[in-house]
Amino acid sequence: MSAKQPLCTAPEGSGTLDTLLCEERVFRPMPRIVAEANMNPQDVAIARARAESDWLGFWEEAAEELSWFRKWDAVLDDSAAPFYRWFAGARCNIVYNALDRHIETANKNKLALIWEGEPGDTRKLTYYELYREVNKAANALRAAGIGKGDRVLIHMPPLPETVIAMLAAAKIGAVHSVVFGGFSARSLRDRINDATPAAIITADGFYRNGRVITLKGTVDAAVAKCSGAAAAVLKKVVVVHRVLVETAMKEDRDVWYHDFVRDQPDEAFTESLDAAHPLFILYTSGTTGAPKGIVHAHGGYMVGVNRTLDWVFDLKPTDIFWCTADPAWITGHSYVVYGPLMAGTTTLLYEGHPLYPEAGRAWSVVQRWGVTVLYTVPTLIRMLMRFGRQNPDRHTLGTLRLLGTVGEPISPEAWTWFHKHIGRSRCPVLDTWWQTETGMFMISPLPVSLLKPGSVTRPLPGVEVDVVDESGAPVPHGQGGYLVIKKPWPAMLTTIFNDPEAYRRLYWERFPGWYFSGDVARKDEDGYLWIQGRADDVMLIAGHRIGTAELEAALASHPAVAECAIVGVPDEIRGEVAKAFVVLHDDQPPVATMMMTGETDQDLIEHARRELGPVAVIREVEFRSALPKNKNGKIMRRLLRAESTGQSTGDLSTLSTDI
Ligand code: WT7
Repeated sequence: MSAKQPLCTAPEGSGTLDTLLCEERVFRPMPRIVAEANMNPQDVAIARARAESDWLGFWEEAAEELSWFRKWDAVLDDSAAPFYRWFAGARCNIVYNALDRHIETANKNKLALIWEGEPGDTRKLTYYELYREVNKAANALRAAGIGKGDRVLIHMPPLPETVIAMLAAAKIGAVHSVVFGGFSARSLRDRINDATPAAIITADGFYRNGRVITLKGTVDAAVAKCSGAAAAVLKKVVVVHRVLVETAMKEDRDVWYHDFVRDQPDEAFTESLDAAHPLFILYTSGTTGAPKGIVHAHGGYMVGVNRTLDWVFDLKPTDIFWCTADPAWITGHSYVVYGPLMAGTTTLLYEGHPLYPEAGRAWSVVQRWGVTVLYTVPTLIRMLMRFGRQNPDRHTLGTLRLLGTVGEPISPEAWTWFHKHIGRSRCPVLDTWWQTETGMFMISPLPVSLLKPGSVTRPLPGVEVDVVDESGAPVPHGQGGYLVIKKPWPAMLTTIFNDPEAYRRLYWERFPGWYFSGDVARKDEDGYLWIQGRADDVMLIAGHRIGTAELEAALASHPAVAECAIVGVPDEIRGEVAKAFVVLHDDQPPVATMMMTGETDQDLIEHARRELGPVAVIREVEFRSALPKNKNGKIMRRLLRAESTGQSTGDLSTLSTDI
């Protein structure tokens, strides 16, 4: 295998990291890692060969590792493609696999969850304790008349009750939709209107960066403005008591969590569900309009997540697994909650800001709990890099054996810093590529893989991807193109909630028969993949997906704004942030005055933040008298983006971003 990377031409608008083009280092697997690995290189080769020769049999074997109430009639029913049905005819429940079955084994008294609050308070739950808490919550939901198919919206900070609420909903066959605690009332309202939940589970507030952030008020504001249809369905708002604040409770509708579960028995039956029964809806930004409700189903999702977690993070019975994601994102769903619990491992959940009260907090968490696997995001690595190596150096990080990253391309600099100063050159860095839609890791090294900093390496066994041009033809090695997935996979989304047609159009129409990821990537001469960014108008701000359309709509709701366009521009810490181009209404003071006072900038930035929440980071507002448009009147964002990032606009590649 050659270590030399060819130069490549990158598609325009791909947020290309120039440094990736000349990255030549390779890291060979260490003998100790290979000796300890559940899957040594030979096993990996066998798995790849098996997946190639009998792809369905391969996934069927993965399914055999879990418990089912009834086995499948077919591993995959593709008769209504792209509405694929994995494990058709089977009956199961992911919670049976995540909890119930452990109660019959030695895992019963093992720690399932370690939780640390930002102020330093902690809670630990064994599998048996978590099981009983989930049962009480499941019984309470049932007693409130909530059951199979009903939606339960969870608007929570990372608390043990967040995990409990998710599992309790899934146990009774309800469909959870976790909405990030940092989202605004407006974002929450949109999701309530779409999901029409029968219950909302929230908290009075939480600790973040040393402050108390209240939450219940956001829920009240969102519900007050939700549609009549949504209001008619909502029965209960359940409030976890986390902080000391006055909290208004609405009679009949609102109930404290501790009262809600108090008298409930700690045994509850687990609903037997069709494998295709929806497990959760998770909203994520797309190119157009409001966020889409991505739906995942019990059967396929549990098989895909279980298999991939075991492979990539090579789980051992003694692991303390820390995935730093909020449970509200897909990373949290798959690899804080469901994956680790199905595997019977101990998962760690931290409530607060990773830099509070000082930059060494994350390392002190690792040291105090003896974390063995740390899975995090490039934006946090970049943030911690800024504080230098003295911070990690003050801590014993010797328990760590594997590191992981996800969410956006990681630069070779950040990769090698993570490898050297956190992994102490002993721990492989596993860069996992996947999406809310894929549910599970798709492209990732295993601990025994040869690593190239900045590359997500190769697809996992059983996953088939390619990099293709406009016409669907594979691009030559070294060149950029669209990342497609050529075969369905078990943990794939099953549809978009309330909009199956959009599911077909957004993912399966661009390249018929293949799933279009929306990413651009290139393959090097060894077949290693390098993700270059989004091909569409979706930004990755600190690894969070924000649609330009969504942010434009929020900004346009400001009375002074006549028209606006958002583009993503590079940012040292967040990877990408938004820049806004704004045309003001005629009755506004002249643009020159605006720019001098800077008042309107701040006003608009604040407005967008209020509308969408703190994830919507606009760094700069530029006022224009008009926006560049094509002959159909469509705003040419790529021109604006090229201008802002100093790229030349002359060589706009054959890959159009207007897809
Ligand atoms: C988008 C999906 C899956 C959990 C986190 C984000 C980007 C994801 C990587 C990676 C480069 C990555 C892609 C993808 N992305 N992982 N390892 N290297 N880019 O989930 O919010 O659904 O976003 O994140 O652009 O399409 P998401």
